[in-house]
Amino acid sequence: MFMNFRRIKKCQCLQLVSMGFALSVLMVCWDQLDHHVVSHMKSYSYRYLINSYDFINKSFSVSQLEAERFSSFPYLLNHNGKCDEKDVLLLLFVKSSPENVERRQAIRSTWGNETYIHQALGVTVRVVFALGVHPEPQQRAYVQQKLYQEDQVYRDLVQQNFKDTFHNLTLKLLLQFRWAHVNCAHADFLMSADDDIFVHMPNLVHYLQSLKEQGVQDFWAGHVHRGAPPIRRKDSKYYMPYEMYQWASYPDYTAGAGYVVSRDVAAKIYQVSLSLNASLYIDDVFMGICANAMGVSPQEHVYFSGEGKAPYHPCIYDKMITSHGHVHDVRYLWKAATDPEISGISSGLMGKLYCTAVKIMLLCKPQYLNTYPCKAAFS
Ligand SMILES: *[C@@H]1O[C@H](CO)[C@@H](O)[C@H](O)[C@H]1NC(C)=O
Ligand SMILES: *[C@@H]1O[C@H](CO)[C@@H](O)[C@H](O)[C@H]1NC(C)=O
Ligand SMILES: *[C@@H]1O[C@H](CO)[C@@H](O)[C@H](O)[C@H]1NC(C)=O
Ligand SMILES: *[C@@H]1O[C@H](CO)[C@@H](O)[C@H](O)[C@H]1NC(C)=O
Repeated sequence: MFMNFRRIKKCQCLQLVSMGFALSVLMVCWDQLDHHVVSHMKSYSYRYLINSYDFINKSFSVSQLEAERFSSFPYLLNHNGKCDEKDVLLLLFVKSSPENVERRQAIRSTWGNETYIHQALGVTVRVVFALGVHPEPQQRAYVQQKLYQEDQVYRDLVQQNFKDTFHNLTLKLLLQFRWAHVNCAHADFLMSADDDIFVHMPNLVHYLQSLKEQGVQDFWAGHVHRGAPPIRRKDSKYYMPYEMYQWASYPDYTAGAGYVVSRDVAAKIYQVSLSLNASLYIDDVFMGICANAMGVSPQEHVYFSGEGKAPYHPCIYDKMITSHGHVHDVRYLWKAATDPEISGISSGLMGKLYCTAVKIMLLCKPQYLNTYPCKAAFS
């Protein structure tokens, strides 16, 4: 009897201890989860206010003279005539950095090859690399010399005299819209992209051509962040001090990795940028602020990736527009994705069924995979 009682007690004790342990683990996790969930819920409910009223506009408005400080850096490399053709479907800005020669080379010989695009797709696309200057003064002269040589050959670099750093990305955004306004205002579309993304140029061109036929306006598409909360942790790359942005949510915006706007939207963004304080250094968020001030909202396209990398499969290549995080495999992917043998893989009833099944397997796994969303499997 006594023995039994003790055994029960020991058992209970163990249970209690393990329960306590489980609880404390849960609490620690919950604290983080809670923070994440609550801040997202808060910001998401705040989103409506942010997107519908003009208090952001008011707080970011500055005089034209003050706004000019952000965009009046002199050009070190420029090509005013780069866009002189009459029919330019797309002006594509690649945000690059002075030292990223390899990435530019890979882009020029694959998805950004203007000659190929013209010959194979029958449209004019202009690809321009947007740059600042190397941030380290000791290396600047050498890197700059290399850039001049590179530009002699390809004549596709546009560079302003500001330090090319993460926290100056908004200056690069202004460079793009300003340059487009001055040199390429007639292009039907403007795209901004990172230099480590892959663009399925044939798919993009077909998509834009169909939009053009519909006479699309007020158009801004990409991977949309809705009601994203500003990150207040100081150790984050995307840390946002309250003094710079005080609200619980950003206006809706598209991930800076790659997005497209129509000509009228590009003009509006340029106009409003002449009266906004551009010290907010997250460039895609700042783009959201500009668009918000002009009453433009982004639309989601499931095959534009944000941070995500597309799975490698012909059924994906058939639909993909952009995929992020490609540095060493751009040439491989370009070859694979534009292989004529795989074109039309999803045509016909059988092809459709096959590709839908494949895409469900690739995109709808329960764990978070950071690629295209599951609903992309059905489009
Ligand atoms: C671009 O494509 C053209 C035509 O296909 C080709 O001749 C040229 O070598 C390509 N350019 C680069 C940099 O690969
Ligand atoms: C941005 O560029 C300007 C001009 O070169 C420079 O003075 C400033 O320090 C840069 N800011 C950052 C955060 O790198
Ligand atoms: C722009 O915003 C920054 C950061 O919020 C602020 O320090 C600066 O004074 C503002 N500039 C103007 C001209 O209002
Ligand atoms: C935002 O501010 C600018 C300049 O202050 C103004 O011209 C514009 O109409 C405002 N936009 C909205 C949506 O209130």
